[in-house]
Amino acid sequence: MVETRRVPIGEADPYLLFGLLGKQVIHPGGRKATEELLGFARMAPGQQVLDIGCGAATTAIEMASRFGVTVTAADISADMRDRAIANVDSAGLAGRVSVEPADICALQYEDGRFDRVVAEAVTMFVDRDRAIRELVRVCRPGGLVLATEFHWRRPPTTQARQSFLGELCPGMLFETVEDWLARYGSAGLVDLQVRTGPFEMMTARGFISDEGIGNSVRVMARAMLNGTARRRMRWIMPRVSRAVPYLGYVVICGRRPAGEGDAS
Ligand SMILES: C[S@@+](CC[C@H](N)C(=O)[O-])C[C@H]1O[C@@H](n2cnc3c(N)ncnc32)[C@H](O)[C@@H]1O
Repeated sequence: MVETRRVPIGEADPYLLFGLLGKQVIHPGGRKATEELLGFARMAPGQQVLDIGCGAATTAIEMASRFGVTVTAADISADMRDRAIANVDSAGLAGRVSVEPADICALQYEDGRFDRVVAEAVTMFVDRDRAIRELVRVCRPGGLVLATEFHWRRPPTTQARQSFLGELCPGMLFETVEDWLARYGSAGLVDLQVRTGPFEMMTARGFISDEGIGNSVRVMARAMLNGTARRRMRWIMPRVSRAVPYLGYVVICGRRPAGEGDAS
């Protein structure tokens, strides 16, 4: 069920907290992973793209402005949709990026509606196989499904696993790259391609590379000036630090098999 309620900052999960503080890139591999995903995507003007779990619509805006595609940027969270709408408006792209409520587990779109289906750091929060089946269903035969996920680069200690999955992101689940490939393959995708890398979104280097100096300072200043956000950050950061050495991102691209004569 899509959300209409705004979440108070003190109740926000780490991703929403950063979204509310104005962070623009909110997935494990940051802009580097998005570039890898876009490299796989081979987008062409006029194509229809779904960005589900779009967050602040940073990637949706990038795709529309760089490749001339039309993007449906959808998210379950009312707070994220507010941010997405503001960003799309200020990019002057309201004609080509529409922001909509949607739940990745029960998409309201008809089968085969999109040429490209993008989900950056979303399936991990929900029933992964159900979400992946939905991504494949709404992708047209011959089209591409593209996703970014977390994985464990090496087996985590019990403490690292508990800190990240038990405390920071309860309900989130992921395992290895092989496990993701098996899930995307079982949902019917073929020609699977993969890129992996370390989780740097929350390191100083990754943060600045994703946001630039100006927005990094703005986000941190907002966090420091708001007592609730400051307390939340103090709780989040040590738990993230414990898990970072074991965490990585994986970008996966797969093609929905085409019927004879279908182009990709
Ligand atoms: C880690 S953030 C990623 C945001 C954005 N894709 C990015 O990479 O910057 C996860 C996003 O998925 C959204 N989300 C979580 N569960 C969802 C669901 N069931 N359906 C749609 N979106 C969902 C969250 O609201 C959030 O915006």
